Amino acid sequence: GDYDCDVPMKEGDTRETELNHKLISNYKASVQDFALLKTLGKGGYGKVILVRKRNEPDKGKLFAMKSLKKATIVTNQKDTVHTKAERNILEQVTHPFIVELRYAFQTNGKLYLILEYCQGGELFMLMERQGNFLEPMAKFYLAQITLALGHLHSLGIVYRDLKPENILLDKTGNIKITDFGLCKESVFDEDTTNTFCGTIEYMAPEVIIRRGHNRSADWWSVGVVMYDMLNGGPPFTGRDRNEAKKAVCRGKLKLKSYFTLNARDLMKGLLNRQPANRLGAGPNDYLDIKTPLSMTHADAFAGFTYTHPSIMS
Ligand code: ADE
Repeated sequence: GDYDCDVPMKEGDTRETELNHKLISNYKASVQDFALLKTLGKGGYGKVILVRKRNEPDKGKLFAMKSLKKATIVTNQKDTVHTKAERNILEQVTHPFIVELRYAFQTNGKLYLILEYCQGGELFMLMERQGNFLEPMAKFYLAQITLALGHLHSLGIVYRDLKPENILLDKTGNIKITDFGLCKESVFDEDTTNTFCGTIEYMAPEVIIRRGHNRSADWWSVGVVMYDMLNGGPPFTGRDRNEAKKAVCRGKLKLKSYFTLNARDLMKGLLNRQPANRLGAGPNDYLDIKTPLSMTHADAFAGFTYTHPSIMS
């Protein structure tokens, strides 16, 4: 099929030195080392395939293989930098709620990232099935997302487009954040019809209007995800991209009567359009969200055995 038609890079080929990273030698493997089982996801960037490692190390283990077409990512200097960024980010990040990069390699036409397989699929699917979450369940996921983002921020990394599709669940039901650096600049290309880059409902206003952003943009997205979980749909929507943009930048936040007061306060703090005044923008970062969630690390790690009464009420 179209997975294996690509030729491996030759030893000593220096044309793609920008894309060659020490990670490749640390996690050496090739497409031939993996049996392709099924497609997990597709986007303009390439696809994600469930694979099984054929040989040692990790013989028999399942992974998610993300392939990226260089033709679509190496379109300009910025995108090259971003793809490199995903690698660099995943390489330096080890955190229980962030997907782990296990191998990386490339051919002339594609980059491959072999990621930890998240059997629980997208949080998005669970949200679709459930309609909306009760607050204790929302708290559990938000606690894990908050810890993951706090860890990224401590390394100087801003995630920038957190959304339910990028939040995966492992086989024990815990969260794994995925999709770093990919296609992030292309998100703003007005002429792109790429559906992969289509979701703006979760982006902070300052990200949409490209006025410069910092880690507080992630806390806005946490507010949107929280609202989505409790409401069964995000707070700002539109029939098309432009309407959605307007809603995110200027729409009125409608806090439903069935949200508890504490949940409303938390969402109001996160969904503040002034990045500097947003909850989490201060020097304490994630601790400002952790406190209203009255969240401990134990809460976040409690998994599905979590029985704490709603902290938000
Ligand atoms: N879809 C995208 N990445 C994935 C992963 N690591 N596991 C499962 N499904 C995915």
